Amino acid sequence: MQESSQYLLGDPTLDADHAELLRLIDSLSAAQPHELVAALEALRDHAARHFAVEDEELRQMKDGNASCHLDEHQAVLKSLAEVRDIVAGAGPSLDVAALIRPLCAELYRWLPEHVQAMDAGVAIFRTKSRFGGAPVVITRKPQQAA
Ligand SMILES: [Fe+2]
Ligand SMILES: [Fe+2]
Repeated sequence: MQESSQYLLGDPTLDADHAELLRLIDSLSAAQPHELVAALEALRDHAARHFAVEDEELRQMKDGNASCHLDEHQAVLKSLAEVRDIVAGAGPSLDVAALIRPLCAELYRWLPEHVQAMDAGVAIFRTKSRFGGAPVVITRKPQQAA
């Protein structure tokens, strides 16, 4: 689990979806071998539903970043489906943990970057569409050293 403000955009729907994505990555990371397929499917299903919401708005935005953003969603879903199929068909000799560890490390690296670099544009679009302004994120000020 990483600093939660990295995932906050000020849009309640997107913020809740990203928190759930992070929770499902944590679950995958902590899953026992017999739980991996279910954990991968739960993550992929949530990601697919969340990306579908963003994709709908990206098609309306038509800005220069939209096609990169759509492609990135597809790449994540493809990776999750591929790993799920490998794990589901794995024989006893395959070290599935060696497959899941780097996947989780990559997802932990990817998610905050994606949220800040790409989803922030969707949050602004959503807020402007509804209220005509940009979303506001309120975070706690870091404590000053005494
Ligand atoms: Fe997102
Ligand atoms: Fe996104």
